[in-house]
Amino acid sequence: MTRPHPTDRITPAELPARVWQELQRATVDRHHEWRTPVLASVDDDGLPQARTVVLRRADADTRTLTCFTDARSPKCGDLQARPQAALVFWSQRLGWQLRVTAQATIDTTGPAVQAAWERVRQSAAASDYLMPRAPGAPLDPDGSPAPTGTSDRHHLAIVHLQVTRIDWLELHRDGHRRGRWDGSSTERPEPAGWVWLTP
Ligand SMILES: Cc1cc2nc3c(=O)[nH]c(=O)nc-3n(C[C@H](O)[C@H](O)[C@H](O)COP(=O)(O)O)c2cc1C
Repeated sequence: MTRPHPTDRITPAELPARVWQELQRATVDRHHEWRTPVLASVDDDGLPQARTVVLRRADADTRTLTCFTDARSPKCGDLQARPQAALVFWSQRLGWQLRVTAQATIDTTGPAVQAAWERVRQSAAASDYLMPRAPGAPLDPDGSPAPTGTSDRHHLAIVHLQVTRIDWLELHRDGHRRGRWDGSSTERPEPAGWVWLTP
């Protein structure tokens, strides 16, 4: 394991709020290493599928993380059929890994999707959601780039991830630490539902 050297170590009591604070920061700070977690889902064959996504929103009150995707992408269908999801975040600066277990729900229409699209359409990412062909659709064998979108019809979908478990690992020269928060646990050890584990 590599051992980054954060200057001061947080206390267990500070951990829950700090974890959500860092997640929120990652949604607004392009350079935050938690901005691009790996999102894992389960496909039709029961096999794990993992890919990088951009974290768009982190809401500590509702314990929800949000990302955007193309409604036609394989991950979208997979998460609609099997909502069990996992996200992995790593920050060298913090020395923190976060493994998040979540239940996914997907919005493909409605006011929230429209509001998100109004923001995305102003950005360079807009073309990602206007592709005429679905992500993963085969192209000509000569490897030419996919045709870009010209239509007004977007395919943006919002993936809401209701967090059910967080496994936090800190790598540190003075000793690694690991804590777990389990949203379904009826036990409520302090602070705020976190238990401490051997790293
Ligand atoms: C840095 C980075 C950020 C990405 N962000 C997103 C994203 O926010 N949403 C998304 O659907 N795909 C994103 N992708 C592409 C996915 O990793 C993936 O290749 C694509 O969505 C197809 O995944 P699927 O076939 O499992 O549906 C990103 C890729 C990279 C490298």
